Amino acid sequence: MGRMASAWRGKIGLPAIFVGAFFCGSGLAAQAQADEAWLRYAEVHGPDLPIALMQVRALGNGVLEQSAVDELKHGIPEIAGAWRPTGGMVQVIEVVAGTAQEVSKAYPDLAVPHEIAPEGFWLGVKTGQGYLTGKKAGQKYLNFVIVGGDERGVLYGAFDFLRQLAQGQEFLHRNVNESPAMAIRWVDEWDGPTGFVERGYAGKSIFFEDGKVREDLSDVSAYARLLASVGINGCDVNSVNGAAPFLTSEWLKQLTRIADAMRPWGVRMAMSVDIASPQKIGGLKTFDPLDPQVKAWWASKVDEIYTLVPDFAGFTVKADSEGQPGPASYGRSPADAANVLADALAPHGGVVLYRAFVYNNHLDYGDMKADRARAAYDIFHPLDGKFDANVIVQTKEGPIDFQAQEPVSPLFAGLRETSQAMELQITQEYLGQQRHLVYLAPMWKWVLDFDLRVDGGATLVKKIIPGTVFHRPLGGMVGVADVGRDGWLGAPLAMANLYAFGRLAWNPELTAEGIAEEWTRQTISNDPLVVATVDKMLMQSWPTYVDYTGPLGTQTLTDITGTHYGPNIEASERNGWGQWHRDDAEGIGMNRTVATGTGFIGQYPPEVAKMYESVDTCPDYLLLFFHHVPYTHKLHTGKTVIQYFYDSHYEGAEEAARLGEEWATLKGKIDPKLYEDERARLDYQAGHAMVWRDAIVQYFLKESGIQDAQGRAGHYPGRLEAEDARLSGYTVMDVRPWEDASGGKAVTCAEKSCAAEWTYAGAAGRFDVAAQYFDLQGGVAHFTLDVNGSAVAQWAADAALLSRRPNGDNSTRTTARGPDGRGIDLKPGDVLRVEGAPDGSDPAALDYVEIEPIAGGRGAQ
Ligand code: GCU
Repeated sequence: MGRMASAWRGKIGLPAIFVGAFFCGSGLAAQAQADEAWLRYAEVHGPDLPIALMQVRALGNGVLEQSAVDELKHGIPEIAGAWRPTGGMVQVIEVVAGTAQEVSKAYPDLAVPHEIAPEGFWLGVKTGQGYLTGKKAGQKYLNFVIVGGDERGVLYGAFDFLRQLAQGQEFLHRNVNESPAMAIRWVDEWDGPTGFVERGYAGKSIFFEDGKVREDLSDVSAYARLLASVGINGCDVNSVNGAAPFLTSEWLKQLTRIADAMRPWGVRMAMSVDIASPQKIGGLKTFDPLDPQVKAWWASKVDEIYTLVPDFAGFTVKADSEGQPGPASYGRSPADAANVLADALAPHGGVVLYRAFVYNNHLDYGDMKADRARAAYDIFHPLDGKFDANVIVQTKEGPIDFQAQEPVSPLFAGLRETSQAMELQITQEYLGQQRHLVYLAPMWKWVLDFDLRVDGGATLVKKIIPGTVFHRPLGGMVGVADVGRDGWLGAPLAMANLYAFGRLAWNPELTAEGIAEEWTRQTISNDPLVVATVDKMLMQSWPTYVDYTGPLGTQTLTDITGTHYGPNIEASERNGWGQWHRDDAEGIGMNRTVATGTGFIGQYPPEVAKMYESVDTCPDYLLLFFHHVPYTHKLHTGKTVIQYFYDSHYEGAEEAARLGEEWATLKGKIDPKLYEDERARLDYQAGHAMVWRDAIVQYFLKESGIQDAQGRAGHYPGRLEAEDARLSGYTVMDVRPWEDASGGKAVTCAEKSCAAEWTYAGAAGRFDVAAQYFDLQGGVAHFTLDVNGSAVAQWAADAALLSRRPNGDNSTRTTARGPDGRGIDLKPGDVLRVEGAPDGSDPAALDYVEIEPIAGGRGAQ
């Protein structure tokens, strides 16, 4: 669909609009190459309304207003592409955009609301006023006015206008007056100079390459446009780790180009800084924040930045954390360090986001009082009131580290005289790394809506972080996005998380369902059936993921010292990182009570502390975060902890499979490329959820010695283990961690090709046959599954998964469903054979083959 529609007729609640030739050349060509995500402006159909658009114009000349008008000129005709004008009375529309001042001046008789906040906007409609220039006799006029509290507000108003239009919403009679709930609405990118994005799952950096800022920054502009469309106003472009080089003069000069690329979209550039920079790159002997030379160094460095980037937003600091240097080296506090930077930034209007993610990663596992969860509050609460006005303490939403499920950080209630921001992770580090569908808005909403009961009254997190509760001048939300060049987040549906982050930072009162619906309508389709299906999938996805990875407050039972992806239950134990869950033969959970545990619960205000302190009132979904209990402990439902583990993992894996079934109902209703792409992802996810299920279930069966009341754990009647097969070439190996392979063992091939063979001894019938194999990096191994010498499936291990050893990061399932998907006929005595051909460093490792009943009676006739 071209950007230059000639004439069309209205089909939705919004009047149809005639688009004149003046819309051509809106200067957005570069963006057409990037994935436009929710800004694709697909055509919307609706009821006929014979109305035509004549003109879109800005009242001011500022760059943000120009972006707003360009966007409207680009978006409106795309959405209304095929509409044609009918005969009869044609109403003429003009969309005028300007700041409140500009609009009041241009149209003194227009009742512009007095209070349009900075960054806010008012969308007004005026009929019959004749504001149009060049009006013709016999035409009716309708004017949309997009009035911004300031220029950025004009831009946000334009995007809101388009958001409503793209969803086919009626807004002829609406007066929208909105402003952002919080001042800080930033994304952080953890990009390094080489172009590697830490915890990014979408390829290389859009900002950096080979130690330099990239030549072509069109992706950066396109990204800033996406961010602006959901009201994000700041972007920290470099990783919190290893930030020192970025402050060199050479880098700063280059970074100006990034700031320039984002500026037309109202996104201010920020940077992460290394607190040791005065020493590392400044040639000083010290980085003691209280040393006058160090102070002077920061002041002059900041001046240098503002000469290059006059609207620079500020610094993010990770210090005394996970190997990053910090003020503790000199016996100074985070407030000392933050204030030195804040002093330097204050004259220019910049801010410091000082991260509360400060903890000792060499904790003593043997010390039952040691508790990483305590760290942020223990360190920052005593400093309350000691930070300068332009310092914002940035706290992760939970006390540990972006786990699948955690309680809210008590620090939000512990800083009354300090501005605060909540840090969320948009990139799904511990939540399936974009290979699993996990819509995070329900989790974020749970945190935002949490009532910390400060002084015994309602104190919702969403009211603390903007500064409302404690009357702080600043505050907000920061989302670690880690976008890359591969479709921003590497998976189309993961973009709902970036969208939701922006929308919630703008307005935390929005619901997760409502945001899902908005996103789906704009990104996938306005078809009610599609909207209902996708929204249901999104809303189910987080609880599902928790069910099969880390239920009951166990966080995420993954490899915490490595990939943070597949199951590895003991990885979090017996090391200094403090992500412990302390399981043994008798029970599981961290005792964080005040009475007998680490005392962490005492950091919450009394009402919340009281609720968590007792197992009777602690909610089951966080039980093991707060309490160590025997496996036989009964939850509020009456079910034991161990049985809950078994059930939730089986149910979680089934729910994951259901996501794929729901998606399958959209075939033919949505873009076929998107359909196929997501279908493959959901197939993979369903298989990987089983890897998770089996790992956790077999681990805790062994650990507790308690059987699954439903007899599933440890019993796999249809499973033919590779280590029990007749092997040619293949050798048996122990998989580590053992729980990542069925029975702890697999087979691996060091020859050109190897085979595993079994004689089927079950009942005759028609089945699906699944194969569980390990898809390693560094080669594409090939597999064939034969029955009595005839191939029934062939596949290549060509996915991009993690690790170079067979384990739960790369264990993958494929299912052979026979000709036409009707299943595979088997009878006793049939010979099943898997042949694996290694490639490069992928040894075609195989775990088992599983004979399964055909799903849902498919092909049973
Ligand atoms: C997580 C993540 C690290 C990151 C850290 C942080 O632990 O795995 O890569 O540096 O968070 O927030 O600083």
